[in-house]
Amino acid sequence: MCGIVGYVGKKNAIPYLIQGLRKLEYRGYDSAGIAYLDNNKIEIKKTVGRISDLEKIVNINIPTNIGIGHTRWATHGKVNNTNSHPHQVGDITIVHNGILENYQELKNELLKLGYKFKTETDTEVLCAYIDYEYKNSSTKDMVEIFNNCFKVFKGSYAVTIMVASISDKIFVMKKDNPLVIGIGESENYIASDVSAFISNTCKFIYLEDMQIGIVSSSDVSIYQENKLINNDIKTINIDDVGNGKEEYEHYMLKEIYEQSNLIEKLNSIYLNSNLDDFDISKYTSIHIIGCGTAYHAGLIGKYLMEKYNDFEINVYIASEYRYQKIFVNDKTLVIAVSQSGETADTLACLKRVKKCGCDTLGIVNVKNSTIARIVDRVIYTMAGQEIAVASTKAYTSQIYIFSLLALKIGISKGVINKEDITSYYNELPQLINNVLNINYDRVVKKIFNNEYLFYLGRNIDYVSVMEGSLKIKEISYIHSEAYQGGELKHGTISLIEKDSCVISLVSNEETSAKIISNIKEVKARGAYVILIIKDSLNINIDINCYDQMIIIPSVHELIQPILNIIPLQLIAYYVAKKRGCDIDKPRNLAKSVTVE
Ligand code: M6R
Repeated sequence: MCGIVGYVGKKNAIPYLIQGLRKLEYRGYDSAGIAYLDNNKIEIKKTVGRISDLEKIVNINIPTNIGIGHTRWATHGKVNNTNSHPHQVGDITIVHNGILENYQELKNELLKLGYKFKTETDTEVLCAYIDYEYKNSSTKDMVEIFNNCFKVFKGSYAVTIMVASISDKIFVMKKDNPLVIGIGESENYIASDVSAFISNTCKFIYLEDMQIGIVSSSDVSIYQENKLINNDIKTINIDDVGNGKEEYEHYMLKEIYEQSNLIEKLNSIYLNSNLDDFDISKYTSIHIIGCGTAYHAGLIGKYLMEKYNDFEINVYIASEYRYQKIFVNDKTLVIAVSQSGETADTLACLKRVKKCGCDTLGIVNVKNSTIARIVDRVIYTMAGQEIAVASTKAYTSQIYIFSLLALKIGISKGVINKEDITSYYNELPQLINNVLNINYDRVVKKIFNNEYLFYLGRNIDYVSVMEGSLKIKEISYIHSEAYQGGELKHGTISLIEKDSCVISLVSNEETSAKIISNIKEVKARGAYVILIIKDSLNINIDINCYDQMIIIPSVHELIQPILNIIPLQLIAYYVAKKRGCDIDKPRNLAKSVTVE
């Protein structure tokens, strides 16, 4: 979602702003812009499109050493030049990430006060309100002005502003949206995440909610209410932020291929395990929350943990959970799953359940992200930076962590021994490589022109096909739905006609015979069936019930879902590629969903 950058220092600001915006491209955006000081005047350049389009309208040689920049993912108002950021009202120039919920109310008041608006955005209202407070302040003290704004603004906002008459400072304030300040030598940076400035400095400060920052080339001052406070200076290793696409055509493909090494790394970190100090047995209920792929990982977690657990584990979509009636107490563990650690809905759920006295566990990829900082305990998924919008390796690492939690429960109940299973974990990287090496050309050729696809699975395989279906939808724009095999005849089978394409995963022992019956039902109605099937199933497969078969290796049931997802990821990738889609940055999508 929207990305913010800022630079103040001794060097020319514009190249840093552009470089920072490029680093934030992965978050997803539809327009971009910068503001900088030029001859004592704040200039704005902005455009719909990519950073490369912005570069065409910016002279990077303009000698300025202060500026702010933004990539916009439209929420309020169309994607056009006028609505893109920065916005300027009176003395204030602003970039904003988040949503000002009471913008209409404030707009009405500001209109009465004589303010005029050029855009459809909430951000222009936010800007006008700060200008109003600024104009009416006798002291022009930005801390006081921002504190007044905190009392009025509703919603979420990371705000970075330049003030017309102040040529050497950038001001920031934040609530419920990430903002980080990079500390350099005689220069400082502002960004939505550290990747924007990591090649220039690895030292940084997180701004917490309701904090205000005043950033100049020589100083960063953070205020909470009216007090000057000291936030910890943290450091990050450049390796945590990734190394480009290397020889791969897309980040998504690179990230799919990284999964084998990732599992090896996770084995070395967690298998002999520092999860041992985590006592899961004291809880009487477990809720798992997440969005999109992270929600699917949570569902896999439920199936795995329930194998050994003696109470039901519930999984919720965070955007629903944050508003629904929930049944929790101080014996409830709430597990939040998030790659970015910034997803607004997941974060809001955590804030809610913490007030109810629940313990919280984060399964998070991005170190020191907001979710990682807010939970009582975090297990990092160690997947490294995931750039492609479509999540692949982060998902694999999330379900890996769930397999270990399940194992932990199984061991505590005395139903499984670690020794019995270690060899399976150790052979998993090689098995992943085997699945990566399968040739998917024939499958891709058959389905890439389809208008719709069906995915079928039962039991835990149903969750894997939900994730496979999400992958193909988000990057290839083919409409697809995942169904439980047994549910088809309750309505959906009416959609099956000659050549309808059905992709089915068959790995779950308990339901394999049942799903084969369901496959026969669609085959009998003319469907074209692609079967992805585990090699060791004890069932007879009638060769007339499928058109193509992909055989994947078997491994222990706790980690079988890791192997199962890989063909589905690769099919989605190659189909999207054949359709000429923008794989790493699919339309309308953002990597980090920081608004609700
Ligand atoms: O950063 P998170 O894991 O919290 O993100 C959750 C979803 O937005 C994310 O998994 C999304 O569904 C992916 N783009 C799917 O590939």
